[in-house]
Amino acid sequence: MKKQDRAGSYSRGGRNFAIVESYKSLRTNLQFALSVKDKVLIVTSAEANAGKSTTISNVAVAMAQAGSKVLLIDADMRQPTQHKVFKRTNHLGLSNILSAFCTLQEALQEEVLPNLDLITAGVIPPNPSELLVSRAMTALLEQVKDVYDYVFIDTPPVCVVSDAMTLLDRVSNVLLVVRQKQTTYADFDAATELITQNGGNVIGSVITNVHERDRMYGDYDRRRGYGYSNRYYYGGYYGSRRAAEQEEQG
Ligand SMILES: Nc1ncnc2c1ncn2[C@@H]1O[C@H](COP(=O)(O)OP(=O)(O)OP(=O)(O)O)[C@@H](O)[C@H]1O
Ligand SMILES: [Mg+2]
Repeated sequence: MKKQDRAGSYSRGGRNFAIVESYKSLRTNLQFALSVKDKVLIVTSAEANAGKSTTISNVAVAMAQAGSKVLLIDADMRQPTQHKVFKRTNHLGLSNILSAFCTLQEALQEEVLPNLDLITAGVIPPNPSELLVSRAMTALLEQVKDVYDYVFIDTPPVCVVSDAMTLLDRVSNVLLVVRQKQTTYADFDAATELITQNGGNVIGSVITNVHERDRMYGDYDRRRGYGYSNRYYYGGYYGSRRAAEQEEQG
């Protein structure tokens, strides 16, 4: 196992077997979900600190390990992180490409891992939303779509700034990350509504920071025949727990 991320998913071998398996399972779900769609995917969340960057970097690694050619773009130009995850420089990145300070080839960091290329966020610009809405971003997306099997785009939280929404007219697939004991149902609904209103399609959700002890609720739900809908559960069954609570409340 490679030391890879801040949540420790690809580190420490057997101890994190369940976590690695969760990312593999997410990979499989995404492979199916995106099989009949464009292979470009935005990851976002309602609020900050939900686990977006960690999730998408691990999914990118898992996809690359399965043999797909993957490009990860850090489009969070306000709080860039992917260069830290992969221990790379961030002198040239997305902001530099979109401002025409450099070319795609100059900013592209090839093979940060086998099959995985990275465009870091670049120098923090004063106008991230404007850059994302620009023709240069459209051109960049067109260019990379044909080269990669999957393009994953890390973005800031959708209920805080409009950056992710400005992309939805060109990239409709959205993975919505929610964090247990942090993201409220109102946040989740607001984010889903914003995404849908702007032309996006939430193809699934990932629940982060779920503890093993919550698994009992998953078993409880399975016995009662609750479906998992299009949610992807990372390490637990938060959505099922809600259903269990609703059931108990009658
Ligand atoms: N699945 C997870 N389980 C537990 N902790 C996690 C998980 N994913 C990420 N974290 C932790 O949560 C914190 C925030 O993670 P991350 O930076 O990925 O979130 P983010 O949504 O990208 O934040 P931001 O909104 O600032 O961009 C980090 O400390 C990270 O290690
Ligand atoms: Mg982030």
